Amino acid sequence: MAKKKALITGITGQDGSYLSELLISKGYDVYGMVRRASVERFDRIAHLQERLTLVQGDLTDQSSLDEAVKTVQPDEVYNLAAQSFVPTSWNQPTLTGEVTGLGTTRVLEAVRKTRPEARFYQASSSEMFGKVRDVPQTELTPFHPRSPYGVAKVYGHFITINYRESYNLYACSGILFNHESPRRGLEFVTRKITNAVARIKLGLSKELRLGNLDAKRDWGYAGDYVEAMWLMLQQDEPDDFVVATGETHTVKEFVEAAFGSAGLDWEKHVVIDPRFIRPAEVELLIGDPSKARKKLGWKPRVSFDELVKMMVEGDLKELKKGA
Ligand code: NAP
Ligand code: GDD
Repeated sequence: MAKKKALITGITGQDGSYLSELLISKGYDVYGMVRRASVERFDRIAHLQERLTLVQGDLTDQSSLDEAVKTVQPDEVYNLAAQSFVPTSWNQPTLTGEVTGLGTTRVLEAVRKTRPEARFYQASSSEMFGKVRDVPQTELTPFHPRSPYGVAKVYGHFITINYRESYNLYACSGILFNHESPRRGLEFVTRKITNAVARIKLGLSKELRLGNLDAKRDWGYAGDYVEAMWLMLQQDEPDDFVVATGETHTVKEFVEAAFGSAGLDWEKHVVIDPRFIRPAEVELLIGDPSKARKKLGWKPRVSFDELVKMMVEGDLKELKKGA
């Protein structure tokens, strides 16, 4: 039987790298879309590069997406590319709308026009719940996004449902809650904390400046969450799923656990800096993953404490290597 082909947008990101590993291990031919840069940053997929095929494209450019889908003829398309950092979405609201929102329509259009039998995954987000109407949040909880990023993701979510209903595409949205790893971008709070802990532990720094320590997030491990993406595309019917751990922790609890795991007292190092307070905050996220557990047989494997430890150890290792 011919190998299945998967096309991943956002392959250079955190999730793109874990999803590539998973699909390669399942025997897929994996194609990744990358955008042109004056200096290539493929650190997260460097260890996979010989087993991947990269194609050029950008979510703001329809013809490059049409060409990528036409050339690859994928069986599965995972749309992971986005301007994904919430604070940047206030500074660059229209860029965020272009990439994170309209970019989804462009990928769907490319699929509809040239490969309508392909199965499509959209990276929806718990950020869409924003000012939450239910606790915990489920697939039926109404959205009230609190950032231009969240607004763009709501658009991407509903255009995916609309293409499923209008054109009968096999299109799914995974409403993923925050998921982290040693490959998380340094600006996101978990990695910012674990990187600072490692730097402080090694005597390279003394201080960590943070914003709102009271925000609560349902944090899981990215390696677990990409499995849910794949499972969504293996079902008889396309559907949307919440992917979460069902546990919530404050940023402060993450800080305590990370400093504690390195034998440090966080209160000696953390400074609250108003620059990191957001114009509108998402105060509480906690997902109910029952539907994913029941229909996909999915459950998270890595606990909160294991995740914190894995990330602190990852940063210590990386900094020691670079020293
Ligand atoms: P990430 O690390 O920020 O990666 C984003 C990817 O998008 C990168 O590969 C980036 O490429 C690419 N990209 C950005 N703008 C692009 C453009 N105009 N054209 C083509 N590619 C572009 O994000 P992630 O954490 O892996 O998340 C993956 C997806 O899941 C995103 O859509 C995110 O919004 C969503 N999501 C994430 C979480 C989470 O907790 N991680 C939760 C819910 C949903 P470059 O390397 O060239 O910048
Ligand atoms: N980044 C950051 N930096 N966040 C901080 C800081 C800081 O110095 N101090 C406190 N926080 C708080 C934020 O105010 C927010 O409440 C929480 O930490 C988490 O922030 P991020 O790690 O930046 O993630 P996010 O929840 O805004 O967004 C992430 O998760 C979404 C899913 O809910 C991103 O990965 C999004 O792309 C994703 O959709």
